[in-house]
Amino acid sequence: MVQHGPVPSSDLTRAHAELLDAQDPLRAFRDRFVRRDDELVYFDGNSLGRLPSETIEALSSAVNDEWGTGLVRSWERWIDLPIRVGDRVGRALLGAAPGQVVVCDTTTANLYKLAWAASAARPGRTAVVTDDANFPTDRYVLAGIAAARRLEMRVVTADPVDGVTAAAVSAAIDDDVALVTFSHVDYRSAAVAEIREITDLAHRAGALTLWDLSHAAGAVPVDLDGWGVDLAVGCSYKYLNGGPGAPACMSAGSCSKGCCRRYGAGSARRTNSPWVPSSIRHLACADGSAERRQCSA
Ligand SMILES: Cc1ncc(COP(=O)(O)O)c(C=O)c1O
Repeated sequence: MVQHGPVPSSDLTRAHAELLDAQDPLRAFRDRFVRRDDELVYFDGNSLGRLPSETIEALSSAVNDEWGTGLVRSWERWIDLPIRVGDRVGRALLGAAPGQVVVCDTTTANLYKLAWAASAARPGRTAVVTDDANFPTDRYVLAGIAAARRLEMRVVTADPVDGVTAAAVSAAIDDDVALVTFSHVDYRSAAVAEIREITDLAHRAGALTLWDLSHAAGAVPVDLDGWGVDLAVGCSYKYLNGGPGAPACMSAGSCSKGCCRRYGAGSARRTNSPWVPSSIRHLACADGSAERRQCSA
């Protein structure tokens, strides 16, 4: 049984630490990472966690076999990888049915694409909402889009410990709001936002939601379809051990009635170009209502 919370000072002995290690259910994973210096105590998770041993062989095979030997023929395998890996990430980690998640680009680039498309899908609305503890680049991107589209940017103050709660953001969300965007897990405090409640709140006001899952994917349960989340971004370079240069992902959810399935990744599949922003241009229900929750199908 793993103990949580502060360890009593009397337990701060090597013997007790080794006992806890021995009882740790995640212990076996340790051997799946490269450890070249057993004296090193490594806590860095800043996109540069330890190297998974399997990555060495996988990268070597991609360069030597797929590029070196396969040359252009390797396109056959590569071209759909963003979608195939996206489906696996969606199923295993994000609670998203196939066809909604594409692995591509960086978190920031994906956030830009989705936030731009989302604000365009709510014509006539004049505001976007985020919080002051959201990741800096997320806020900068949103501020840029707000300036370009002449939208008011409403920045909620989040509690540093409790994180983003529905109660704290409810006053900022009304019928003028096009997009509500927060991080699911706070990158500094690890506070978990009330994603389901806030998503419901935004939908009741007719707004779209966009969640940054960078620190949630692989760390806490995520259920995008169950929560009815419209849009999400995340990355493979935190708890998924992607390492430097690894891609991020973006998700565009499907209408619960199915009429607007795949308006994100689906159009990417048709064009074979999941990296192209136009893949999310069709951010609207098939009936043209541009209101995922109000479609008539
Ligand atoms: C929560 C969160 N959002 C966005 C980003 C930005 O990621 P990138 O610089 O790869 O676009 C990061 C990077 O650490 C992050 O932690």
